[in-house]
Amino acid sequence: MSVQGGAIDDLRASVGLEIADEHLLRTLAGGLNDVENLLRETVHSDVKAVHDAASHLVEAGGKRFRPLFTLLAAQFGGGNSKSVITAAAAVELVHLATLYHDDVMDEATMRRGAQSVNARWDNTIAILTGDFLFAHASRLVADLGTDAARIIAETFGELVTGQMRETVGPAAGEDPVGHYLTVIAQKTGSLIATAGRFGGMMSGADPAHIDALCRFGDIIGTAFQISDDVIDIASPSDELGKSQGTDLREGVRTLPMLYALADSGTDSRLVELLSGPVTEDALVTEALGLLRESSGLERARVTLSDYASRARAELAALPASPARDACESVADYLVARTN
Ligand code: IPE
Ligand code: IPE
Ligand code: MG
Ligand code: MG
Repeated sequence: MSVQGGAIDDLRASVGLEIADEHLLRTLAGGLNDVENLLRETVHSDVKAVHDAASHLVEAGGKRFRPLFTLLAAQFGGGNSKSVITAAAAVELVHLATLYHDDVMDEATMRRGAQSVNARWDNTIAILTGDFLFAHASRLVADLGTDAARIIAETFGELVTGQMRETVGPAAGEDPVGHYLTVIAQKTGSLIATAGRFGGMMSGADPAHIDALCRFGDIIGTAFQISDDVIDIASPSDELGKSQGTDLREGVRTLPMLYALADSGTDSRLVELLSGPVTEDALVTEALGLLRESSGLERARVTLSDYASRARAELAALPASPARDACESVADYLVARTN
């Protein structure tokens, strides 16, 4: 899944997007290549322990979905520029920092097809390296001006609030589906919205177009997390590249689980398994099998399609162009990747 070297075929394969326009593909591939170089330069440290842990997940790859969206958004203004590349790299570094911390919280052992940092080293190294990455993301954003610095700080605050809300769980009497949707908008939608906003801002796009990119990013980011939560259940573990069933183990209920619990026809064994954290491997496998058969998984796919449609509707505020078509194909891709 890695985007390295910037080859156009790599880009097509890595993000699964259908971008017919060769000129746009070349522009995005070139931009991603510049982002890769800046990421590697940024995580460099003369202290070997810092360098090794910080480069571990950069080198492991990942979809580079957020920087790609920043580059796409910049197409609504003046296209790739030094500021656009800096913004794209900064957004990826914030994302990466949150993954280092998330894998500690979720006790995950795999990430991006490699060992997670907490598993390969330990929790302390993972937490400190996440902080290091966030610090350097902030350093990059400082070059983009005070508005950008304020926006990324607010975004990070919102993302962390989402992670906190997820950890604490819904309050007594709170609708659990409403709680889940708030959590994922905050922990995932917020940063993807900022990825789009930055692309528009740094390329000098029209303010109305920047707003549309931000709204599209927010909704598509929420859809992205729903698709991730569906895939976590529906896909064979060897295709995920990260630890499967961590939500079950942590007692966090994702949308397919919440929908399964809301259906009175759901297998009573599944209801029993979902009543708390599922710690044993065999029970996780059993719960995943029952979830795959449940109505909850299908219903989550329907909600995902609704979000994708709402995201597509936001694109009407943007001028017709190959970049807008590509944004539309992001919405199609998120639905298609769960099938
Ligand atoms: C993982 O994000 C965390 C979620 C928000 C679901 P990605 O699926 O974008 O992870 P990478 O960057 O490709 O590894
Ligand atoms: C990832 O969340 C971290 C953030 C979105 C901040 P998850 O825990 O849901 O994602 P994965 O499945 O580990 O990638
Ligand atoms: Mg996780
Ligand atoms: Mg998590």
